[in-house]
Amino acid sequence: MTDLDAPNDPGERVLLVVHHTPSPPTRELLEAVLAGATDPDITGVRLRSVPALGATVPDVLAADGYVFGTSANFGYMSGALKHFFDTVYYPCLDAVAGRPYGLWVHGNNDTAGAVASVRKIVSGLGLVQAAADVEVTGPIDGAVREKCYELGATVAVTVAGEAG
Ligand SMILES: Cc1cc2nc3c(=O)[nH]c(=O)nc-3n(C[C@H](O)[C@H](O)[C@H](O)COP(=O)(O)O)c2cc1C
Repeated sequence: MTDLDAPNDPGERVLLVVHHTPSPPTRELLEAVLAGATDPDITGVRLRSVPALGATVPDVLAADGYVFGTSANFGYMSGALKHFFDTVYYPCLDAVAGRPYGLWVHGNNDTAGAVASVRKIVSGLGLVQAAADVEVTGPIDGAVREKCYELGATVAVTVAGEAG
């Protein structure tokens, strides 16, 4: 896998990471996901990582798979990720159906509502879950980083496997 802004190889697939990362711990999760998605054993996939408040309809349409990351806020996904979905949902409906996705959520004590809120929207879009959701509460340790690495790698491998 190569990195953001590399010239686009016509045969290359694109994995888009859309995230809300409001703090150092959530930054650690993002970095672990990106490390997994750029595992040197995965080839033919280009990574794009965009904050949820900056991700656009063209970003979504140009990608072949997605990883979404958010904090849990008031029992729901973050307002930033919700704004992203509000922006892209109808313009991308139909176009993205069948594409793979993964999700991580970080909260202080309860991520269930945030996970459910994302699931409802990705289900409406027709996205296909490619990896188990990663739900994190409390401090970030090696096991959590490993789960996030696996999340990024699994979705990237799925995107690569759908080439051609
Ligand atoms: C406005 C607000 C609402 C929040 N609501 C929840 C919540 O419903 N459930 C939860 O587990 N954490 C909640 N949190 C905690 C955030 O998920 C947490 O701060 C975020 O994941 C970043 O982690 P950190 O504070 O450890 O850096 C909330 C935080 C804020 C600022």
